[in-house]
Amino acid sequence: MRKTILKISTALVIGGMSANVAAAGDVEVLHWWTSGGEASALNVLKQDLEGQGIGWNDMPVAGGGGESAMTVLRARVTAGNAPTAVQMLGFDILDWAGEGALADLNAVAEAEGWDAVVPEALQAFAKHDGKWVSAPVNVHSTNWVWANKSVLDANGIAVPTTWEEFEAALATLSAAGVTPIAHGGQAWQEATVFDAIAMSTGGPDFYKSAFVDLDEGALGSDTMVEAFRRMDVIRANVDENFSGRDWNLATAMVINGDAAFQLMGDWAKGEFINAGKVPGEDFLCFRFPGTADQVTFNADQFALFDQGGDVSSEQASLASAILSPSFQSAFNVVKGSAPARTDVSDEAFDACGKKAIADLAAAAHTGNLFGSMAHGHAAPAGIKNAIYDVVTAHFNGEFDAGTAAEELVDAVSIAK
Ligand code: BGC
Repeated sequence: MRKTILKISTALVIGGMSANVAAAGDVEVLHWWTSGGEASALNVLKQDLEGQGIGWNDMPVAGGGGESAMTVLRARVTAGNAPTAVQMLGFDILDWAGEGALADLNAVAEAEGWDAVVPEALQAFAKHDGKWVSAPVNVHSTNWVWANKSVLDANGIAVPTTWEEFEAALATLSAAGVTPIAHGGQAWQEATVFDAIAMSTGGPDFYKSAFVDLDEGALGSDTMVEAFRRMDVIRANVDENFSGRDWNLATAMVINGDAAFQLMGDWAKGEFINAGKVPGEDFLCFRFPGTADQVTFNADQFALFDQGGDVSSEQASLASAILSPSFQSAFNVVKGSAPARTDVSDEAFDACGKKAIADLAAAAHTGNLFGSMAHGHAAPAGIKNAIYDVVTAHFNGEFDAGTAAEELVDAVSIAK
């Protein structure tokens, strides 16, 4: 690793940039990785940097999906005090790059050949005006189900592959007095569930028309009404204390056998692993019924903020560390995600990790890879938040399914 950094520092100097090879300082990192599994994954990065003599100044802002972290970030930048590096998703990266706030990482990217190894779907968010502005850490996806194996076995439930089978499993569990779905009632979690429900109900063309193209016909369609009706089914199968619950506490319910399923992105796997659980033995991971061939992805990236000059040597080292194949494997094994490079072996990954990597490659190949609406990869934040509002209001009983689809058309049209 040291050698690589030295090579890059030299390349930066040769490239005419003032990357100082002076003594390594600190990096201040703003992120929302505060659960047990997330913290374990983050430690992999901290230790990597510490090994290079770079100190870690931690700036955690709790809140899955990163909404609170983005609010804190805006305040910091407005105060003229941007952190060195910020965990960020999709359109948020492009927005900050558009404001000219991000450092230019092209020298590191060129020295290390990122163009050839980072999937195109990620490059679309990591580059702005031909410049690399962020370092991709991973690829998560939202259309997963996490299940407690003993609970399913005890109730004679096989992995459901269609919505109808899933509904039948929920009914069986409910009749047996088991909480069918562990859910955390927060807008971003409801939107995460809605990603999978919408894909399953309408298929990839519908998902794209509604959430990427923001087509009014799709947003207000009968298919959208049916998607909201299916959200009613989910709502009817969560326990009464769901409101406000953090996602990792919902995962803990599945880990402990207090609920059968959680519909959540594969950061949930980090919690199972952190609790010492084994896929296939203690828990199961499978694609949300009806979305076996599709992947709705979100990639965490570290956007490096312009500190009033060229990219610093610490920032270059951080970016380089993040993209190194050994880090990509070590980190993502713990985090539950797939690597952000196409050339990392799946050898160290467990069964769910291997599936994540294979599904991602297959979906990219067959045109079934779509940015997650819930995690900022389908539309910019203003539109995402407008969709959140409608989805969560419906989930909490404010609208029926038909009204929710009408509200969605209006909310998106106002936010556009
Ligand atoms: C991020 C994940 C994170 C999850 C829950 C998602 O938006 O991409 O890395 O684990 O939120 O905090």
